[in-house]
This record gives sequence, C-alpha cells and structure tokens, in this order.
Amino acid sequence: MKEKDVAGRPRSRIGVLAEDVIQKIAAGEVIESPASVVKELVENSLDAGARRVEVEIAGAGKELIRVTDDGEGIVPEDLPLAVMPHATSKLKRSEDLAAIHTLGFRGEALASIAAVSRLELISRPPELPHATRLTVTGGVAGEPVPAAGPPGTTVVVRELFFNTPARFKFLPSEAGLRRAVAETVARLALAHPEVAFRLLVEGEEKFVTPGDGNLGSVAVAWWGTGIARSLLPVPLEEGLAGKVSGVIGSPGVHRSNRQDEVFVLNGRVIESRSLAVAVERAYESLLPARRFPLAVLRLELDPAAVDVNVHPAKREVRFRDEAACFRLVHFACVRALQQSGTAAKTLAGDLQAPGGGFVRPSGSHLPAGRAAAPAGARGESSRPGELPLGLLETAREAGEGVEEVGAVAEGRAGLVGKGPAAAGLGTELPLRRALEELRVIGQFHRTYLLGETSGALWLIDQHIAHERVIFEELQEEYDQAGGRGERVVQELLLPVTVELPPALAAALPARPAARDETPPGAKAAAATARSGASAPLSFWEEMERLGFRCEPFGPGYVLVRSLPVAWRPLGGSPGEAQGTGRDRRYGEGLAAALEAAFAEAWAAWSGEKVGSDGAPWEVAGRRRILATIACHAAVKAGEPLEESQMKELVTMLARTRHPFSCPHGRPIVVEIPLSDVERRFGRPVSR
Ligand SMILES: Nc1ncnc2c1ncn2[C@@H]1O[C@H](COP(=O)(O)OP(=O)(O)OP(=O)(O)O)[C@@H](O)[C@H]1O
Ligand SMILES: [Mg+2]
Repeated sequence: MKEKDVAGRPRSRIGVLAEDVIQKIAAGEVIESPASVVKELVENSLDAGARRVEVEIAGAGKELIRVTDDGEGIVPEDLPLAVMPHATSKLKRSEDLAAIHTLGFRGEALASIAAVSRLELISRPPELPHATRLTVTGGVAGEPVPAAGPPGTTVVVRELFFNTPARFKFLPSEAGLRRAVAETVARLALAHPEVAFRLLVEGEEKFVTPGDGNLGSVAVAWWGTGIARSLLPVPLEEGLAGKVSGVIGSPGVHRSNRQDEVFVLNGRVIESRSLAVAVERAYESLLPARRFPLAVLRLELDPAAVDVNVHPAKREVRFRDEAACFRLVHFACVRALQQSGTAAKTLAGDLQAPGGGFVRPSGSHLPAGRAAAPAGARGESSRPGELPLGLLETAREAGEGVEEVGAVAEGRAGLVGKGPAAAGLGTELPLRRALEELRVIGQFHRTYLLGETSGALWLIDQHIAHERVIFEELQEEYDQAGGRGERVVQELLLPVTVELPPALAAALPARPAARDETPPGAKAAAATARSGASAPLSFWEEMERLGFRCEPFGPGYVLVRSLPVAWRPLGGSPGEAQGTGRDRRYGEGLAAALEAAFAEAWAAWSGEKVGSDGAPWEVAGRRRILATIACHAAVKAGEPLEESQMKELVTMLARTRHPFSCPHGRPIVVEIPLSDVERRFGRPVSR
C-alpha cells in the first residue's frame, strides 16, 4: 500500500534515479554561494507543499543557513537517501523529464550542499509523533536519530565551504552575500504569495510576508508601500502559449539594472532575456535611456511546452514557442500600461481598500508591532528619489548605488494621485477622465498649467506635456509615412535655410533625398521595401519620412521645404509654422529652431547605437530623433501661454496614449488632492 501524507495524498518516496535518467539531466549542480543554498532549500520546501517558510542566516550565510518549513516532511527511512546524489522523490523515469511539475527534479541539491558543509536535516512528517535528525559532514552521513521538532522539515547548513577553501575565498563581500540572499528570498516570495515567508538576517527580521495569496502584500513587504502603490496590475492575459498575470511598475519608477524584473514560470523563478525585452519594449518611450522597469510576471504554461532541464542551476528554461511567450508577455504589459490612466485600477486603490485585492500583511506569525508596520510600510515617509527602507538597506550596506525612483513612486503625486475619493476601490476618478474634465485655472511660474477637478488641484508641466503630444503625433505621422501612401506635410511657402554641423552636412546625399514629384516618405518607404523591411534608413531618410524635406544648399547648408504637421505653434493650425507667431520657434525663429533641432537629432541618432531595452538600433535611434524634435517643437518652460493655448494643450494631452509621462520618463502631471490642501490649512478633511 502506498503511504499517505497527512493530507491524505499519496506520498512519493525517495528513490535513486536510474543511470539513463541521470545521464539525461543537465547536471553539475554547483553550490556557489549562500544564496544558491537558500534557493535550493526553499524550493524543496515549496515542493513539499509548505505554507510557511522561515529562512535564517548568520555570518552572511557562511556560518549558518537555516530553512524551516511546515511541509510534508521526509519519512525517517528516506532521510539518508535525501542527501544522496541522484536520489529524488520527484522524478522516476526519463519520460517524466518531458513535463516537470516540481521545482526540483535532479535529486542533487541536498547532496551538493552536504558535500561542502556541515548539514543537519531534521524532518517530521505530520503523521508521525516525532522528528528524526540526520547529520552529514562534508558529504559523510551519520545515523538518523530521533529528535524533537514540529511537523515539517528544517535544514541547517553550517560552515559552508569549510572543506573547499578556494570557493570560500572567492565569495563576495558579506554585504553582497546578504543582499543576494535577501533578493533570492524576495523573488521566491513574489513567486509564491500564498506562502508566508520570514527572513532573519544576523538575528534581525528583514522581510515578512503574510502568505495571503496577494502579490500586492509581498510587493509592500519587499519594495515598500510607496513603490507598491505605484505598481500597475497586469490582468490575466491568455494566449496560445499560456497565461500571464502580475504587476509592472509605473513608468515613473525605474532601476539601473534588471534586478527588479522578476519572471515566474509555473512557480519557478527564472531568468529570461527574451521576456525581459518583451516587458521593456512595452515601455517604449516611457522610460529614460538605460533604465529598467519593475515587473513581477507569473506565467503558466503547459509543463510540456517548456524545458527546465537545460541549466545546471535550473535558472534558465527553453520555451517550445519562445515567440508566442514573448508576444503574450509584451501585449499583457502594453495593455496594462495603456490602462494605467485609470488610477482606480492601480494597486493604489486596492491598497487603501481593505477587503480589496491588495491588503497589508497581517500574518498571524508576524511579531507584535510588525503586523501594522511591515518592513516596507516605513517607506511611506520616503521622499521622491529616496528608497523606502526595509530590506533595501542590505543593498545600501553593500555600498552599491541604490536605485533612484521617480517622483511618481511616492504615490502622492503623479500617476497614482490619492484623491479623496481614493478611499474605495473603483471610486477614484480615472486620471484620464480627470484630464478631460480639468478646468484650467491659469499658469504658474510660466511653466506649469494649473487646473482643478472636483477633488484635486493639478499641475501640468507645459513643456513636457507638449513634448508628449508632439512625440505621439510625430510617431503617428512617421508610421503613416511608412505605409503605402502619401500623407500630409506642412509645405513651407518660403523654404528655410538651415546651417548644419559639418558631419551632418557631409552625410547629406549630393542629390536631394526627395524631389517634388515624389511624395514625401514614399521614397524612404521604397528604400525600405527595396532593401528588406529591416534595413535601416539613413538619418536623412528618417528625417524625410518624418516630414522634413531637405535639399543641399551650398556647403554646410540645407534648404528645408516642408515640416511635419506636428511642428506648429500651440493652438495654431498646420501651415502656421511660418506665420508671424509670437513664438520663438516659428516665424523668424524657425530657422534657428530647426538648426538646433537638426543638430541635436543628429547627435542623438549617431550616438550609441543600442536601445536601452535591447531595441534594434535604428528603432532606438529613430525614437531619439522623435524625442529630440518633439522637445524642440514644444513650448518651453517660462513661456507665457494664453488661456486658449492652455486649454488646447490639456485637450491634446488627454488624447495621448501615455498622458502621464514624457518620452524621457519624467512625470507630466502632478495631482494635489483637496484633502492635502485642507490638511495644510488645518481644516477638517472633507470626504
Ligand atoms: N524540505 C523538504 N521537505 C520534504 N522533503 C524534502 C525536503 N527537502 C528535500 N526533500 C526530499 O529530499 C529529496 C532530495 O532533495 P534535493 O533537493 O536534493 O533533490 P530534488 O529536490 O529532488 O531535486 P533538485 O536537485 O533538482 O533540487 C527530494 O526529492 C525530497 O523528496
Ligand atoms: Mg531540491
């Protein structure tokens, strides 16, 4: 009769794998650091169905690592097998390798850890009255002996690498080791919100999650309330490849590396360059150059559609249909970002709504006092540009640059405004609608538009708002030009002579890029078609496709015959770029404005040929041209605006796809809730 565990499930006993299976396993487990020990031990706990996992390290993990769980345990007879190489309860035959349902499958981790440490394995299946302990020193196992202990398993790893001095010597700094352990536990916790995690570092509690099944609770514990509030939900998206859901950061929060991009595949934390690019592309122009978003994306795929048996540490996987996974993740993120104008749908709304999907940790095992103020909650007081405290202190210790966070991250301003109506999920005025309904009051400091809605005062940065409007318009014009046909440009009545930087003048083809008989853009489109869709256009072809028709005009000069429609005065109609305009970019100022714009666009184009998100260089280069032109065509800070212009700007902004952050990733809109104003005046806060 097959044994049952306490939940009545048949218990899989540990067995040594047959030689043919061993041969097929991507073996060679190398325990490199305390973090890799922690990862393996916690994965074992998760495979054992634990609801609660506690990790403790001392001496940065070199002296002690202890992982305790409340999982199904190991029966005493199997303890010696558990630490033997190639002994596992998770895999029997080589066919099982085709569809792996557990995190472990090689039967190697415990043996590898035991070989380089003093290991103690104490386990008690819940149905047994007491635990059994087995000690292994440098791979040599003792006899199992009865011991006291609660149901579940505890693995204690002491003096890691005591018998391999070379590995010990090359460990990074203690701060680095601690940080790696914390990151490992955090990722596992983000992957498993249904499991309560607790991490103790040098006797101090660093991280606690309630195990309430809410990703938001884990996000609060790890990133702090400020950042967690700014996260955007990625609702469940189903595609041919499988399902994905999770959260991604709002564009105002970004990092200098991919550390906070977490991918979870069927419960396993994985690394995937292709998924990372899928996410980053979704942000397009929303992040500053070389900055990376936050993301926790959980994919569920048919286990047979993915091979996890390719990387010795099981960190990387091979997708049967990688392109389909890429699309699934990419579109889920694009959709989430497009919906991000709806503040009520951000986690901020949930956070403040007890009973909503996103509640603060209040796990029963949290020590008194902590439940109300989890590690991250302290982050609430952080200012823009500052990280919430909490685990990230570990990062500070390491002396590594802690990532900067955009103003939006704070959650008080920008994307996730906390209007008085924010108290209940779904009651907050969607931000995009708020923009549509905004009543413009005036201009502050000749730089910010002031507006009001019923519940808040709004500040809009006029320059970057206009920049966003023009950027999207340019992008549309550019894309249209890539299509079959003709499109509208602004023909200039009098061509404008523009002086060029020498390198740019040299790059101008001797013959004009386009003659009058060729519709603008058609030539460039034809060039693309001729040389294959992916052939990069030259700078001047890009400019032409954008609507700038230029001809050489003596050494170092170019004659500009047309402009993109988007290049027009605020509130003006196409064709007014040459009008008398008060504005310094138009009328007489046009030549100088174009000169500066061309020079900068050229510098941006000919600069680094790599997109921050791994986009092909011509895509990244084009995006930079668009952003530069948009910046030059937009109203500047310090320019007085008429009421009609302000209204026009707000209306246009409300129609953009991404009204809340500029092509460089800065926030455009800041919302000051009425309640904040009332608080400042010491008035009772109206509901
Ligand atoms: N925390 C635990 N609770 C219950 N059983 C455990 C636990 N840790 C280990 N085991 C048992 O010990 C066996 C060996 O564990 P080990 O981690 O070495 O291998 P594995 O998880 O099967 O595969 P992998 O090497 O890929 O991790 C497991 O198959 C499992 O049966
Ligand atoms: Mg394992």
